[in-house]
Amino acid sequence: MRAIITGVGHFVPDQKMTNEDLERMVDTNDEWITSRTGIKERRVLEKDKPTSYMAVQAAKTILDRNNVPADELDMIIVATSTPDMMMPSTAAVVQNELNASGAWGFDLSGGCSGFLFALATASQFIETGRHQKVMVIGADKMSAVLNYKDRDTCVIFGDGAGAVLLESSDAKDAGIEDFILHLDGSGAKYLNIPGGGSSQPASYETIDKKLHCICQDGKTVFRHAITGMADVSSEIMKKNNLVGKDIRLFIPHQANSRIIDAVGKKLGMNPDQVVINIQNYGNTTAGTVPIAMSEAYQEKMMKQGDWILLSAYGAGFAWGSLLLKWAMD
Ligand code: UT7
Repeated sequence: MRAIITGVGHFVPDQKMTNEDLERMVDTNDEWITSRTGIKERRVLEKDKPTSYMAVQAAKTILDRNNVPADELDMIIVATSTPDMMMPSTAAVVQNELNASGAWGFDLSGGCSGFLFALATASQFIETGRHQKVMVIGADKMSAVLNYKDRDTCVIFGDGAGAVLLESSDAKDAGIEDFILHLDGSGAKYLNIPGGGSSQPASYETIDKKLHCICQDGKTVFRHAITGMADVSSEIMKKNNLVGKDIRLFIPHQANSRIIDAVGKKLGMNPDQVVINIQNYGNTTAGTVPIAMSEAYQEKMMKQGDWILLSAYGAGFAWGSLLLKWAMD
């Protein structure tokens, strides 16, 4: 059995936060943010709505468009670093909201690589014949974990969700072809949300120190991200006898347009092969790759039989690439 993508959708909140808005909140400016990151604006979800809200909207778009009843789903995986709560999983909330009565599921914590890890995981359940329909979602409400006084981080991230429906198919030559995924926990200190877990449970002290907010050593992550994504993408192409020009679309994690440009160049890709939408949404963590894929699909940038290469790098460090053959019209 092959695992093919039969639907893709996304949701971003209506409310925009521009670079000019941030100039009024913290010591930064549009010129710095644009030239250093490529970001012009990002979306912010209402305070009273959780990550699951966006995940549900993204999933519903697909179910409605494909006319698939939610009770046909076998499994729901939500890749997120901003779950609604510590327990139960965001997947449980999504399952209930969708009325997906036949589905089990779980959250997957893979930082910015979460969606790739989730897609790879889901593909295994389908290829073994165990499941027929799996909803794979990448969703993060980063505004919930940002310190809007920390200019190193608050200008970069935004809120959003994307999803794909993965289904079993007996097609010989379509769908998820290969993936190479990595985890190196020695990078944990460079990008994390230290508070609120079992090592530093919520306390007055963790709140005073803003330990429930994301912090990163941007420069170190930047360096690793370029090498990590370029190397693993080269490796997967080589392993599958492909070169840069064989790939119709490279859909990388959207953390910084300078990272994307550098990786695209290293892979020998032309700009028209590389999907970039960071200017509109910033870094939505697990949301970036499926949102970019969904927009590329809406803009008819790929057709059946095209090679699509996904790649991501983030907290962990966790990174990897996934190669697939597009199966939709
Ligand atoms: O998705 C998860 C993975 N995350 C990433 O891949 C992020 C990777 N890192 C990055 O994208 C970049 O490192 C950043 C965008 C976070 C920072 O860009 P940078 O070119 O590495 O800047 P920097 O941190 O080296 O800072 C350069 C200067 C500093 O001033 P001095 O020391 O040169 O005087 C900073 O204080 O820019 C200053 N700066 C800012 N200025 C205006 C840092 N943040 C800001 C800001 N506005 N928001």
